[in-house]
Amino acid sequence: MTQDETGTGDAKGAGTEAHSGARVAPGRALGLTAAIAVVLVGIAAVVWLNPRQMTREQYLALDYFPMERPIALEPFRLTTHTGAPFVLDSLEGHWNLLYFGYTYCPDVCPTTLALLNSVVKKIAADGNPAEPQVFLISVDPERDTPDRLADYVTFFNPGFVGVTGELAEVTNLAQQLYVPFGKVPGGSGDDYLVDHGANVIVIDPRGQYAGFFRPPLEPEHLLEVLTSLLRR
Ligand code: NI
Repeated sequence: MTQDETGTGDAKGAGTEAHSGARVAPGRALGLTAAIAVVLVGIAAVVWLNPRQMTREQYLALDYFPMERPIALEPFRLTTHTGAPFVLDSLEGHWNLLYFGYTYCPDVCPTTLALLNSVVKKIAADGNPAEPQVFLISVDPERDTPDRLADYVTFFNPGFVGVTGELAEVTNLAQQLYVPFGKVPGGSGDDYLVDHGANVIVIDPRGQYAGFFRPPLEPEHLLEVLTSLLRR
């Protein structure tokens, strides 16, 4: 914006000089203006095609921790809330946000899913190429049936996908993404809590671990980082 304004000012200045100074022929001034216009259009095109390549420091300042190099994941086999397989392929072709949690979670999970809903809605409204796919991976597969997950995640956003399956396979994926979780001791029967990491994991369109957001999650920070990643 500032660049554009400065550029326009220069072009006007050149035109004025041509009239008063009479040293620069009107034709040359026009040529100069045209040349500046071409340069400005060029800069605008580069900025539009290649917006906001952020540095590692800029990402860190927004609580996003990018991997030095994206990490390829080992295969896993889980199930979405519609009963479809959730495997490595499910993450390819689009950006993904993975959050580990569970439907009985008293506070952090609902807050996070509501926040992710507001972020992806804003991304879609801003006319980005594609909004990231959000997955809630259940750390409580014992109680989180596909039906229960379906009701839960679609309450926050009809596009969100719940994932459940064998505890060993949830553990397999969670460990690859460095997300800790475990039942809190002292519960009885069906009445228990599950502690879990609250990072939001970012998986790139090649299905590789690209980085994570660490709480406290700020919607504006997620929006800025994800917009940069989506247009990269
Ligand atoms: Ni939770």
